[in-house]
Amino acid sequence: MIFYFSGTGNSQWVAEELAQKLSDQATSIMAAKSDYAPKDGEKIGFVFPIYAWDAPTCVYDFIEQLNIKTNNYIYMVATCHSQAGGVDKVFKKALAKKGLNLNAAFSINMPNNYLLAPFVKTDSNTKRTQLLSKAQKRLKEIAFAVETEKNIVSIKRGLSILSKIAPFFRRFMTDKAFYVEKNQCIQCGVCAKVCPIKNISLNPFPEWNGNCAMCQACLHHCPKQAIQYGHFTKGKKRYFFKKEYLPHD
Ligand SMILES: Cc1cc2nc3c(=O)[nH]c(=O)nc-3n(C[C@H](O)[C@H](O)[C@H](O)COP(=O)(O)O)c2cc1C
Ligand code: SF4
Ligand code: SF4
Repeated sequence: MIFYFSGTGNSQWVAEELAQKLSDQATSIMAAKSDYAPKDGEKIGFVFPIYAWDAPTCVYDFIEQLNIKTNNYIYMVATCHSQAGGVDKVFKKALAKKGLNLNAAFSINMPNNYLLAPFVKTDSNTKRTQLLSKAQKRLKEIAFAVETEKNIVSIKRGLSILSKIAPFFRRFMTDKAFYVEKNQCIQCGVCAKVCPIKNISLNPFPEWNGNCAMCQACLHHCPKQAIQYGHFTKGKKRYFFKKEYLPHD
């Protein structure tokens, strides 16, 4: 079984591709049962995006609730733009608290969905194609390592100082700065529909309810680009994963 969390679709695609290559099944942690009983020898995977050099809080909440007893092979795959920090170390500790071992950890670079700072933006179409082309190859490597049950850590960490300041940085990851441009919003409800946490109410414009995973699905899926975050997002091109972006072999 592969459990995944995804805001803008990168991690969902990675989880589903891995499931296909490994003849396994991918399920969202939002729909998954926390008392899942693995079959003999069944591998357990976790796929999620990197938020500030670590896993999303909702993934740790899911692990906290997990009631799985197994010595089977367990692996994690972090999708990120370029740097996954020390996520495997934190993730391993979270699993250990539940009596579970982490056998392997991988990162995979994917198109960027982080716009919440000055000077950061989504990738150009050329860069996006390059990233997805490399990701297709990387997925084959990861699938082979999992299939053959390699004990391995294969993570692009980036600067270690950034991982150290991550907890400080993550304190500012809240939905307080989201707002809607009412003159742009057509009240279509897409933002509320795509929110995996059901954190958006429509009254009749979207309102954020303070229980945000910071996944950016609402911001990137709004068909009118009416959702903004502070001063950081206006005029920046949006992104969410589409199969049509995949380069053909
Ligand atoms: C709040 C937030 C923080 C992020 N932090 C990082 C980061 O520290 N390093 C990185 O390489 N990418 C970072 N990203 C980019 C995402 O990890 C990347 O685009 C990921 O593949 C998105 O996955 P998804 O489409 O499944 O949601 C961040 C994205 C968000 C929304
Ligand atoms: S997706 Fe955009 S246009 Fe539709 S309701 Fe939400 S903010 Fe308004
Ligand atoms: S409110 Fe937006 S950013 Fe927060 S969890 Fe929902 S879709 Fe993701």
